[in-house]
Amino acid sequence: MKVGVIAGDGVGPEVVAEAVKVLRATGVELELVALPWGSAYWREHGAMMPPNGVEMAREFDAILLGAVGDPGVPDDVTLWGLLLTLRKELDLWANVRPVRLLPGVPCPLAGRGPDDVDMLFVRENVEGEYSGAGGRVGDVAVETAVFTRAGVERVARYAFEQARARRKRLTSATKSNALRYTMVLWDEVVEEVGAEFPDVERERVLVDALAARMVRNPDSLDVVVGSNLFGDILTDLAGAIQGGLGVCASANVSPGSAAVGMFEPVHGSAPDIAGQGVANPIGAIWSAALLLDHVGEAQAAARVMHALADVRVRTRDVGGSATTTQVGDAIAAAVAE
Ligand code: NAD
Ligand code: IPM
Ligand code: MN
Repeated sequence: MKVGVIAGDGVGPEVVAEAVKVLRATGVELELVALPWGSAYWREHGAMMPPNGVEMAREFDAILLGAVGDPGVPDDVTLWGLLLTLRKELDLWANVRPVRLLPGVPCPLAGRGPDDVDMLFVRENVEGEYSGAGGRVGDVAVETAVFTRAGVERVARYAFEQARARRKRLTSATKSNALRYTMVLWDEVVEEVGAEFPDVERERVLVDALAARMVRNPDSLDVVVGSNLFGDILTDLAGAIQGGLGVCASANVSPGSAAVGMFEPVHGSAPDIAGQGVANPIGAIWSAALLLDHVGEAQAAARVMHALADVRVRTRDVGGSATTTQVGDAIAAAVAE
């Protein structure tokens, strides 16, 4: 198995180092290839990755990515130059984000614990509000959300399949009261696909109300399917509910195809703490577990998840005082046992 490693910017290299350490500790034979892409690469070459970067990425079984974003370079340049282009060009149309409380990581919602928080977000990942279609003339700008039947259908079907394998409840995030073209199509397609899953209870909830419900009644949610932007915003909220952005993991995948998948923590480059050795590596390590699952190493993935639960060495963002490296070392040691 060949894994491309894009450590990227800010805390990216710090957390990816720990994820790589844990991957190695599993003993799974992986050829890890460092891809030095990101903002430093941009400063040297004027681009975030080589011109054939997408083709290079396609050659891997999986990619592990840290974070992209540098206070000295415009965000639209860095993100469209690397992360968003890889998602789109590799057609990684599903962004899957599991949300569970790890033992010992406090939930900020009063009285809530691990039994109340077990959600799976399935985010449309290549179109919608992130279509990239738009333009600007002076002080006037348009940015058009593009939703296609095929695009909504595949992500909805995948989400229903996930729900069927879990607690059989699917919540679709919508906004069809105000967005009368795109979200009306979204609802229509989710409804049609849902009819193929009579065993899955489905509901659609306006995204604003859904945000409130995540805080009030997280236990009422199982699988949540949403558009690119709604999924983005809801999963940072979910991350906070999960104890902090540092622990959240994600998989960018094309379900049903043998294509490369890209695995990354949900958080960004965290310039406010970069270089201090305090970033939480759990999101990156959990993402590495998702990567192992993707390449057919389910047992190794399960060992990593057990270690994440058992090892109580934590960074300060989740109430501990350990460094990034200390957390990675402790988890790697538990995995190797
Ligand atoms: P961010 O996720 O980088 O940081 C938000 C807050 O969470 C900060 O206070 C940060 O310190 C904290 N945080 C993030 N990761 C953490 C970790 N591992 N451990 C402990 N605390 C952590 O979001 P932002 O500040 O909005 O964005 C910073 C940059 O990252 C921007 O350039 C943005 O575009 C980019 N970004 C990239 C990605 C990605 O590469 N996938 C995701 C989100 C944001
Ligand atoms: C995420 C990030 C990205 C997104 C940004 C950095 C473009 O916030 O992966 O959640 O919006 O998808
Ligand atoms: Mn985000």
